[in-house]
Amino acid sequence: MSPFLLTRTLPEDATDAALRSDVLHGLTRTPKELPPKWFYDTRGSELFEEITRLPEYYPTRAEREILAARAPEIAAASGARTLVELGSGSSEKTRYLLDALPELHSYVPVDVSESALVGAAEALLAERPTLHVHALIADFTRGLALPGTPGPRLVAFLGGTIGNLLPAERGVFLRSVRSLLSPGDSLLLGTDLVKDEDVLVRAYDDAAGVTAEFNKNVLAVIARELDADVDPADFDHVARWDRGNEWIEMRLRARHAVTVKIPELDLVVPFEAGEEMRTEVSAKFRQEGVRKELADADMELTRWWTDEAGRFALSLAGPR
Ligand code: SAH
Ligand code: AVI
Repeated sequence: MSPFLLTRTLPEDATDAALRSDVLHGLTRTPKELPPKWFYDTRGSELFEEITRLPEYYPTRAEREILAARAPEIAAASGARTLVELGSGSSEKTRYLLDALPELHSYVPVDVSESALVGAAEALLAERPTLHVHALIADFTRGLALPGTPGPRLVAFLGGTIGNLLPAERGVFLRSVRSLLSPGDSLLLGTDLVKDEDVLVRAYDDAAGVTAEFNKNVLAVIARELDADVDPADFDHVARWDRGNEWIEMRLRARHAVTVKIPELDLVVPFEAGEEMRTEVSAKFRQEGVRKELADADMELTRWWTDEAGRFALSLAGPR
């Protein structure tokens, strides 16, 4: 098997500092909240993969259907020699793009989850020993320095993960993606679409309770990394559709009055019975909204594909 390059763009203590800062600010504000990127330790990444196989969680299957049908068109339109993938996770659906891009030189998966990156790179290289894989452990919201691999570049951001950013964060993020694109490069963006509320809520509150475990995993991360005194069993999983903002909101609700203690941060955080902390938004989109957000970041939507049932969309965009 060919070796792959694994680059940590931030030292581990910077990741620790970011977690401390997010916990300190998130647990002392009203209402309390934590950013979703902290779900993804090894267990969180495994739980996400389990979610993708749930009967209620349609986005992965819908996006796979589009990729299976459209990868040759995407490949022809992009002519990519480097595929950069943000929030690549298991890189499972990426195989459709890799198979359709015979001229591809390098694959650059970018993720905060080291376990997901290593597992994906090893599996890909076992199948494609000549591919250059340069994996980056990095936070894609923090500005990326990409390796100097051959162009054109196709930047893929799949799964609907852009919906886990708040609107203002998406604006900043899309402008930073735009700064990675030279003329002839492109962005492939996966977005989940607005649909029936019941379908949406079921996708985030599955009968087997896997999404609940995923949501509570952020507490396990805090307990382990910050030596926090917090018991996930004190919280319930909540998933709600916010009609005004057109996003699903995941929260953790205190089952009774609870105090979370984090001595390392000098933090004692009371939760009232029933108090809710937001742990994720998952925004759902419409074509005109995607077009506008891309245009605001100086990119032009050039292609738009959905699955047969119209649940999920892939957009292709380029610099304007
Ligand atoms: N693209 C894959 C995985 C989606 S899950 C799919 O479509 O199935 C979201 C992925 O993004 C996870 O692997 C998580 O670790 C990663 N992620 C979340 N926030 C991130 C951030 N700020 N920077 C880098 N990776 C992030
Ligand atoms: C990664 N992201 C697109 C998922 C989503 O659907 O928002 C994360 C997730 N949260 C709960 N289930 C899945």
